[in-house]
Amino acid sequence: MPIDNDVYDRIGVGWWDESNPLNLLQGSLTPARYDYFRSVLRERGYARLDGLRALDIGSGGGFLAERFAKAGCAVVGVDPSTVSLETAQRHAAASGLTIDYRRGVGERLPVPDASFDLAYCCDVLEHVDDLDAVLAETARALAPGGLYFFDTINRTWLGKLVVIKIMQEWRWTRMFDTPIHDWSMFITPTELTAALERHGLRPAELTGLGLRTLDPRRVVDMHRARQGRITYGEFSRRLNFGRVPYTGANYMGYAVKTEARG
Ligand SMILES: C[S@@+](CC[C@H](N)C(=O)[O-])C[C@H]1O[C@@H](n2cnc3c(N)ncnc32)[C@H](O)[C@@H]1O
Repeated sequence: MPIDNDVYDRIGVGWWDESNPLNLLQGSLTPARYDYFRSVLRERGYARLDGLRALDIGSGGGFLAERFAKAGCAVVGVDPSTVSLETAQRHAAASGLTIDYRRGVGERLPVPDASFDLAYCCDVLEHVDDLDAVLAETARALAPGGLYFFDTINRTWLGKLVVIKIMQEWRWTRMFDTPIHDWSMFITPTELTAALERHGLRPAELTGLGLRTLDPRRVVDMHRARQGRITYGEFSRRLNFGRVPYTGANYMGYAVKTEARG
C-alpha cells in the first residue's frame, strides 16, 4: 500500500498541538532519541554543542531541531512538507530560536558539500523513495569525521504488530486514519548497515529504541487518546521510551563519515 506522505501537509499545522496525532512524537521518541544522541556526542568528546553545524533531514515540526538549536547548534532543517516547514519556522521564532528551514528531500539535499558536523534523520528513512540516494546525499553533506544519527523501524513481525496493526489499522487503538507507514518500507538493521557502508558512513553503534516498561494501561490510554479523552501529547508523555536491548521494532544508532569519500 503506498504511504500517505501528504498527511504532513494536511495536518502539519498542528505538530505542536497536543491534540494532533503528530504530537505523539514529541513526548515519546523525541526525548529518548535526543538523550541517546547527546550521550554519544558526550562520549565522543562533545561536552558542549555550541557552534556545531547540524542537519535535520525530514525535520517535520522541528521537535529535534529545536533541541539541538537550544543546545547551541546551528541547525538547518530540510523537509518536503511546506506546511510542516511553516509550522516549524513559526514555532522556532516564537521560542526565540533561529533555525534555517529549507524545502527539499533527503534524496537531493539543498545544502553544500561537507558543510555539517552532524546530521540526523529520525523516523524518516522508512518514508523515503530511495534510501541509497538519501544516504549518499547525507554523506556528501557531512564533513569528514562527521556523525550521522538515525532511527527507523525494523521489518519484523513486531514492527508490523505495533506500527501497522496497533498504530494504524485496528480501530480500537489506531492513532492515524491514513497509512503513514508501509511494512514493506521498513528496514532491517542488516540492510541499513550495508547501505551506510556503501556510502562512506561507517556504522558505529545500533541499539533498540522502545518501551522501557510494559504497562497494559498504555493500551487503554491509546483508546482514550483516540477518543479525545486524553491528548496525544499526554499519552506520549506516559510512554517510557528509551534505549532498550531489543531491535525488533524501532531502533537507532549512529555512523561516522569516513575521511575517504562521500
Ligand atoms: C514521521 S515524520 C518525522 C519528523 C521528525 N523527523 C521528527 O522525528 O519529529 C516524517 C517526516 O519525513 C518527511 N519526509 C517524507 N519524505 C521525505 C524525504 N524523501 N526526504 C526528507 N523528508 C521526508 C515528512 O514530510 C515528515 O515531516
